[in-house]
Amino acid sequence: MSTLFNRDIISIGDLSKDEIQAVLGQAAEFEQQLARGERATVGQTLLNRVLATVFYEPSTRTRLSFESAMNRLGGRVVSVAEAKTSSSAAKGETIYDSGRMLESYADVIVQRHPATGSARALADAAGVPVINAGDGTGEHPTQALLDLYTIQREGAEGGALRSLDGLHVAMVGDLKNGRTVHSLSKALSHWNVTLSYVAPPELAMPQDVVSFVQSRGATVHQTTDVTAALKTADIAYITRIQQERFPSVEEYLKLKGVYVISADVVARAKPGIAIMHPLPRVDEITTDVDTLPNAAYFRQARNGVFVRMALLAMVLGAV
Ligand code: CP
Repeated sequence: MSTLFNRDIISIGDLSKDEIQAVLGQAAEFEQQLARGERATVGQTLLNRVLATVFYEPSTRTRLSFESAMNRLGGRVVSVAEAKTSSSAAKGETIYDSGRMLESYADVIVQRHPATGSARALADAAGVPVINAGDGTGEHPTQALLDLYTIQREGAEGGALRSLDGLHVAMVGDLKNGRTVHSLSKALSHWNVTLSYVAPPELAMPQDVVSFVQSRGATVHQTTDVTAALKTADIAYITRIQQERFPSVEEYLKLKGVYVISADVVARAKPGIAIMHPLPRVDEITTDVDTLPNAAYFRQARNGVFVRMALLAMVLGAV
């Protein structure tokens, strides 16, 4: 049984490199099984097991891919999509009390919440595993896992996952508020990678993340020049400027549109570069990129199902 059995997944740092590789390997197995039209091979343990998804912030990909994953594994789902207004949080119920309730209704809980640290708070209360689906500007560990999987799948030959060693990943946009780039940076630092952080000074990658990845041996470049960074990057990981994290609309408008990746920009980048984005996008990737073979972001979102199937199956002890 996996070492992830019965574990909370709050930060990508909760997983060792071996555990990350085990999740990615299991995801590849599930992807192949589904591509062959087969059912996912899991123990009977998932029949009648219940996933609760509790989202206090909007989501399309994370919530629905978790729910799709649980359904494809043969389990069941209960869900509250607008927990801020339609759960008893609207009446003042605390995360602690919510956790004490949810543990009676589900075998695993996936929560998204605007407060950094909220996933840890829920995990401390609930007696079942909690998976963090994004806690404010903190972390989004399952996004990091599907991003790693996508990086390994893009450019892989013959369906095998490619090595992450030696890759140059450029992260572009709102690196201050983007929890996906925080988690992905930490995850990538298990390998011998070069990370280019491309952001205006106001949206730079937090220093604690930079120091962490450097302490693990990653080579870090910080720049405002996206064109130069993409000339040598294997992966361009583009992020949205997160309006909802700004103190005012005026502050947001000063930085909106600071980087826009168009087909012209891709044409001047390293040949074969993969363009990734956790989505949703606003205006930072123009639609003329969508038809290029470099556009990996819709494949990336699809990979979320396989990776979340793997994670749920491992946490619930089904593989
Ligand atoms: N990437 C991501 O977290 O997307 P959603 O906000 O739609 O879940």
